[in-house]
Amino acid sequence: MPKARKNTQNSNIIMKANSYIFQTSDLLYHALGESFKDSVSRVERQGWKIHIALPGGSTPHKFFQYLSGPISDEINWNVIHFYWGDERCVPPDHPDSNYGMTNKALLNKIDIPKYNIHRIYGESEPEKEVLRYSEEIRANVPSNNQNLPQFDWIILGLGTDGHTASLFPHISLSSTTKQICTIATQPQSGQKRISLTLSILNNAKHISFLVTGKSKAQVVASILNEDPERYKYPAANVAPSRGILEWYLDQEAGAFL
Ligand code: 6PG
Repeated sequence: MPKARKNTQNSNIIMKANSYIFQTSDLLYHALGESFKDSVSRVERQGWKIHIALPGGSTPHKFFQYLSGPISDEINWNVIHFYWGDERCVPPDHPDSNYGMTNKALLNKIDIPKYNIHRIYGESEPEKEVLRYSEEIRANVPSNNQNLPQFDWIILGLGTDGHTASLFPHISLSSTTKQICTIATQPQSGQKRISLTLSILNNAKHISFLVTGKSKAQVVASILNEDPERYKYPAANVAPSRGILEWYLDQEAGAFL
């Protein structure tokens, strides 16, 4: 991957192939928010819907707060359908719930139709929910010519161990499965998760990693500097076959690029 170069238009951004490194996380959220707004406006002009899978964890919280701020008045929430890339198998009011975090930071502050929100039922039995959520995705997200649901946009986080969604290291990662969702186990806590599969991630039209903080710098560098060992990290296997892949990083996360 070519060496990083400064973006001539804006000295606050360094661009490297498909990654953008922002001097501050606020500049990052502004840029990703503008991309979000532009994508929704484009879909709205075409009279279509946009199906977006959101990340979990703590990183997206500030981005969701940004989206619920003044920019929310410039976004037509009616054309957006929200899903999650993964969910912890806990009730929606549990502090670990990705839906719960998103609801507090964004969903209950915007005027989005309830039927546009496709949460994973973390409170349900994983073996049942993995099937139900797969069917909900299949019923709502248009499929490509291989009959695999194709998200318009999937925003992903990155763990320090290189996991993304709930695809953790040392699990078998099939990028050819027709499975839409899978049951995963968080390796340290044993917590059950429901996650999109790698093949669904790689079938998306557009994937953005949203990564901040110095704790992620090493794994980001391994992946983006094309370390030969990088494929041991599930996130390094995310490569949409016919879509856009980009990384939104703050300076700390991009420190070793
Ligand atoms: C989750 C996520 C997971 C997350 C990373 C980073 O449910 O935890 O989907 O993939 O994005 O673990 O988490 P932080 O943003 O908290 O560092």
